[in-house]
Amino acid sequence: MTEPGKQPPVPRPGVSPELRLIEVAIWRELLRAPAHREHAWRHMVMASLDAGRVDARTLVLRECDDVARELVFYTDARSPKLDQLRTTPGAMLVAWSTDLGWQLRLHCHFEVATRGLGVASRWARIRCTPAAQDFLFPLPSGTAIPQPAEADVTPAPPPLEHHHFAVLTARVDEIDWLELGAPRHRRARFDASGASWIAP
Ligand SMILES: Cc1cc2nc3c(=O)[nH]c(=O)nc-3n(C[C@H](O)[C@H](O)[C@H](O)COP(=O)(O)O)c2cc1C
Repeated sequence: MTEPGKQPPVPRPGVSPELRLIEVAIWRELLRAPAHREHAWRHMVMASLDAGRVDARTLVLRECDDVARELVFYTDARSPKLDQLRTTPGAMLVAWSTDLGWQLRLHCHFEVATRGLGVASRWARIRCTPAAQDFLFPLPSGTAIPQPAEADVTPAPPPLEHHHFAVLTARVDEIDWLELGAPRHRRARFDASGASWIAP
């Protein structure tokens, strides 16, 4: 999020005004998404590599920093995706919004944090909310269980320690934006070298 007093992202030279406006609009929507439950981009599919095999799952977008070009997600520290991202930090996020008619494909570099101030402060914020239950589950996700009931969490005061809470930070290196519209679709790529139109 652009904090008060901080400068918004610097427009890049050589980028056409139309593409610049689109890039600004993309980040504006990404900034809105975490706080608006109805925003379609609050849910993103993250695809990663698992020893050469593709793995993918839905994640809730929790935070956006348009200046650092970073997106933040919460997850269980025992999740297999942590090791996948430690081994191969390059992963993709995909999101579609029917309201906007926009698909985003984000090439990202992920960082995994299971301890430190960033983890502790976020856990302190959510530990008394229903979302905390996701990180207090007694078994790692993907563990075989005889029946769903076996996996019930015993309600208990959430611990101060964030035993299974982890934070994933995705630095967005490239945005592939697709607009489905009439009379034509539009698609553009935004990366460190600038922005360009590409065939849809
Ligand atoms: C709507 C929705 C939102 C989800 N949000 C998250 C999330 O924010 N973090 C997370 O770790 N898993 C989330 N999940 C569960 C993941 O999609 C996935 O099933 C789980 O993380 C296990 O995946 P893994 O094997 O890659 O660890 C969500 C699932 C759905 C359907």
